[in-house]
Amino acid sequence: MSRAGSVRQSPPPSAAAPERAAAEGVCASAQEAPAPLPEVAGEATRLASLAERLLPWYRSSCRDLPWRREPTPYRVLVSELMLQQTRVEAVIPYFERFVAALPDFPSLAEVSEERLMKLWQGLGYYSRARNLKKAAEAVCRDHGGRLPADLQALRALPGVGEYTAGAVAAIAFGLPAVAVDGNVLRVFSRLSCLERESDRPEVKRFVTALATALLPDASGDFAQGLMELGATVCLPNGAPLCDVCPLASLCLARAAGREGELPLRRAKKGRRVERRTVLLCLLGGRLALVRRPSRGLLAGLWEPPCLEGHEDAASVRRRLEALGGVVTGVTALSPVRHVFTHVEWEMVGYLVELSDCAAPPKEWVWVTKEALAQEYALPGAYEKLVAEGWRS
Ligand code: ADE
Repeated sequence: MSRAGSVRQSPPPSAAAPERAAAEGVCASAQEAPAPLPEVAGEATRLASLAERLLPWYRSSCRDLPWRREPTPYRVLVSELMLQQTRVEAVIPYFERFVAALPDFPSLAEVSEERLMKLWQGLGYYSRARNLKKAAEAVCRDHGGRLPADLQALRALPGVGEYTAGAVAAIAFGLPAVAVDGNVLRVFSRLSCLERESDRPEVKRFVTALATALLPDASGDFAQGLMELGATVCLPNGAPLCDVCPLASLCLARAAGREGELPLRRAKKGRRVERRTVLLCLLGGRLALVRRPSRGLLAGLWEPPCLEGHEDAASVRRRLEALGGVVTGVTALSPVRHVFTHVEWEMVGYLVELSDCAAPPKEWVWVTKEALAQEYALPGAYEKLVAEGWRS
């Protein structure tokens, strides 16, 4: 195989050059129009030894994770949904708590929305939890309480997309399926030196086809081996640990010295910034909460009453007095910034101590500390403010 470095030094003389370069397994430079994707069959031949290199590495160095110790279909589905958008270390305690409280599909199908949200509190992306419950309902209703060992039937469950269906099919049932997530896209983008952003649909199609062509019998270890390699070795943001990579000798990006730049990064869209004033209203040892709307961000969760924009202590006092509040103290709390996918909250907060409140809005509920801990799901965004404001 030609070493990419030596070929890249001379710029392509004609428009046909990028195709030739790609056919030879050579990277085009980032300034040119993206080189065509390599042919799947050719790449599959070039990477024929991938599984025999990856599987022993995975089996000897994989992390000991709770869903791997006992990969029942239920535990694999729960873990895969939790792991979407959330780091492994953050998921572990949630996973343990969740499967201890709800150990199987029937218990999940029957859990109340409140309890479900409480178990998910802090993980974010709460629609994943609602979909998981809907999937459990469908499993109980249509499949006798057992997850179907069939890719299409898995795909038909609420909240189960192509990735999750593939992961569950391979890991829980050993079916011949692939699971292409962001880690796997990055691994193959580097292996095949794809000069593109890895979230493009054609890259996903290419990687899915290539991974399928390389699939060994041990499909579960293959799926997890690729994810594990992406998560622990083929790291994002220009920091891969190629010295310990079992696939380093197959990697065209490394051969071309491009492993730090690939996959190409998309320019980030700016997030909308919302300013909020959070009111921790305390009356007789109870905190006022309101329920968020049933659609949209943090749907159905509970939060302290909030005002749009940043207000000062005097204006907060006037607002409470307008609700018949007898205000005994207003204390500013440390400002908090919370970043969601598309929006960012810049919050100022006040502890508002009341000895009476004659006409609070009818949506307000007054909850004790125990009730908040046990029953009311409070988004992670408010945790710091509540911890600081409601100490005793
Ligand atoms: N990310 C997604 N699925 C995973 C799994 N099964 N193990 C570790 N990280 C993952």
